[in-house]
Amino acid sequence: AFVVTDNCIQCKYTDCVAVCPADAFHQGPNFLVINPDSCIDCDLCPVECPAEAIYQEDDVPEDQKDFIELNAELAKTWPVITEVIPAPADAEQWDGIPNKIENLII
Ligand code: SF4
Ligand code: F3S
Repeated sequence: AFVVTDNCIQCKYTDCVAVCPADAFHQGPNFLVINPDSCIDCDLCPVECPAEAIYQEDDVPEDQKDFIELNAELAKTWPVITEVIPAPADAEQWDGIPNKIENLII
């Protein structure tokens, strides 16, 4: 499955959800995750993400590995999102800031 990682937090552009044929994205207040049980590994979403936050499970950077389990866990309770919504007003200023996990709202 594909995995959403740290740089999505507080950017949440949602461009990714528009291309997903499997309705695999689930949303929380300031982050999206991919449900590994839904993702069919089509590889369409990574290139759509302006924050470059999506990786194939095997390619997740070493310091982001916890996001594999986090995506699976949060997808159990967060609702599916299939339509693009406006990004937060301050999304651009958060793009590239490390360790945004500290600001994750569950
Ligand atoms: Fe959806 Fe394909 Fe991305 Fe999986 S890889 S989340 S199926 S767009
Ligand atoms: Fe997040 Fe990128 Fe989608 S910022 S919401 S993974 S387009």
